[in-house]
Amino acid sequence: MCGIVGYIGRRQAYPVLIKGLHRLEYRGYDSAGVALISAGGSLNVYKSQGKVSDLEDTAQNRDLTGCIGIGHTRWATHGEPGFRNAHPHLSQSGRLAIVHNGIIENYASLREMLIGQGRTFNSDTDTEVVVQLIEYIQEKDGLSFVASVQRALQMVQGAYAVAVLDMRQPDTIVAARKGSPLVVGVGDDELFLGSDASPIVEYTDRVIYLDDEDMVVLRQDAAITLMTVRGERKTPQIQQVTMDVSQLEKGGYDHFMLKEICEQPQSLRSCLQSVRQTLIGPDAERVFSLLQNANRVIITACGTSWHAGLVAKYAIERMTRVPVEVDYASEFRYRQPVINPGDVVIAVSQSGETADTLAAIGMAKEQGAGVLSVCNVIGSSIPRTSDCVIYTMAGPEIGVASTKAFTAQVAVLTMLALVWGHRKGTVGEAEYTALMQQLDTLPDKIGRIIAQKETVRKMAQTLSFAPSCLYIGRGCNYPVALEGALKLKEISYIHAEGYPAAEMKHGPIALISQEMPVVTVATESAVYDKLVSNIQEIRARQGRVMAVVTEGDTEVARMADSYVAVPQVAECLSPILNIVPLQLLSYYVACLKGCDVDQPRNLAKSVTVE
Ligand code: M6R
Repeated sequence: MCGIVGYIGRRQAYPVLIKGLHRLEYRGYDSAGVALISAGGSLNVYKSQGKVSDLEDTAQNRDLTGCIGIGHTRWATHGEPGFRNAHPHLSQSGRLAIVHNGIIENYASLREMLIGQGRTFNSDTDTEVVVQLIEYIQEKDGLSFVASVQRALQMVQGAYAVAVLDMRQPDTIVAARKGSPLVVGVGDDELFLGSDASPIVEYTDRVIYLDDEDMVVLRQDAAITLMTVRGERKTPQIQQVTMDVSQLEKGGYDHFMLKEICEQPQSLRSCLQSVRQTLIGPDAERVFSLLQNANRVIITACGTSWHAGLVAKYAIERMTRVPVEVDYASEFRYRQPVINPGDVVIAVSQSGETADTLAAIGMAKEQGAGVLSVCNVIGSSIPRTSDCVIYTMAGPEIGVASTKAFTAQVAVLTMLALVWGHRKGTVGEAEYTALMQQLDTLPDKIGRIIAQKETVRKMAQTLSFAPSCLYIGRGCNYPVALEGALKLKEISYIHAEGYPAAEMKHGPIALISQEMPVVTVATESAVYDKLVSNIQEIRARQGRVMAVVTEGDTEVARMADSYVAVPQVAECLSPILNIVPLQLLSYYVACLKGCDVDQPRNLAKSVTVE
């Protein structure tokens, strides 16, 4: 959470920082701020509560000159999301400015020590402690700017990506990371910083992904010095990043979420093409040398990616007969799980930066497990710490509610199960060929679902008045019910729960009333008849049913108050289609309720803190 940007070079920094902050706003939007060193050598800091556009209003008609600057968009951790806690934070003298993403765990003891040394604090943040500490070290030990940042970072515990300015050194930015991401962009005569590559790709395709505990000194003449926070020099590895800038724009849609839902035919096509190359091409041995002797798979992830992992459990167990456990990364990392030789961990993440998933990988590796990651963001921390990676290639996902990443994750994991099962002999030739062919039909089928937007929008009207809602499904569509409920909760603030349909009678059926709609994933499956009975039970208690059915279905369609029909497909692939109407449903409900679809309250896209 929190996005940080930086610029040093020949152009005016402010427009670069503001554009970069807009690109990073998905990471947090509680407050925003910039610090600029003007040509005259003054350090100007502007900040504002709220979004980057509020910052732009605040900064209007102020001195925005300067070719060096840093910026921040905040998701509050320590201290409420007001002006007082907005970054950049200044040192006591006002000479140093810092932006920070992460959590300093020992901030309280450091703060106490600094207060004892006469420092006064102007915010409730952990971040201000770092900038005060740097200045304290500078003054006490007479160290240089770079050396004092280094010494301070050796004293802090926790996670950070920081960028620091010193007005007495107006040709330098010092930046470092540990546990939170940071990327340096390398232009011809200018340098950039970003929490990811999105604020950078407009200017250069050459980037350096910093490793944990890396520290970098960026100079105005574009010189880069890379070292660790302990002072060991390193050679920067410049990599090429390919990102189409138009993918970072709304492209005529009202919201990124709708754009990303509607993009799924293309994103899934590019995903399928890429994963096929990885699993069937020359790279396949890398993946299968890890999996071929697996006795057990542990899938670990958070949120939507965890739901994709749950769908994958059904596919992997059925197709390979290898047992699969699916664990929230935040639980897995702390519950002292049993990890045996022969266990393989699959970490699933859109962003590749989720703190809990990263920590779960670290723990699994320490205990000897091989780690395969399924990730969307190329070069992010999770693939870089895994033994091998399959990229979902869904393109940048900016809406906080994950949509196209989910369909791509499920497609990757299902194809992985299929190819693995085929190699093992647990999936026969005929089934393998048929399912591979069906996978290729999914993008067009999603297109047919999206063409029914209007039907779903009408269904949304009923739901927008509901105080609460249940989502039910069975088999591999039970996780789809969970994911549909999560989508509704996070962007429309309607309480929703996902349930396996047959569990209703063990408790939740007591909730059924006219006021609580039940969204039912009721497409063709081995348990279709049983699901029909579950729907009857709801109807018998005056429950209102909204259903996702298979094209041509008459039975559930007749029972439901409203329904949307999706194309027929093999049951194991149906989650990839069935989630699409539920994504649209939550989108239209949120719009009808006037909610901020792309930036829902209290959330951020990338959860880089615990
Ligand atoms: O980037 P990741 O896939 O690791 O993120 C995991 C969750 O934070 C994420 O899926 C979150 O639940 C989304 N807001 C769901 O829409």
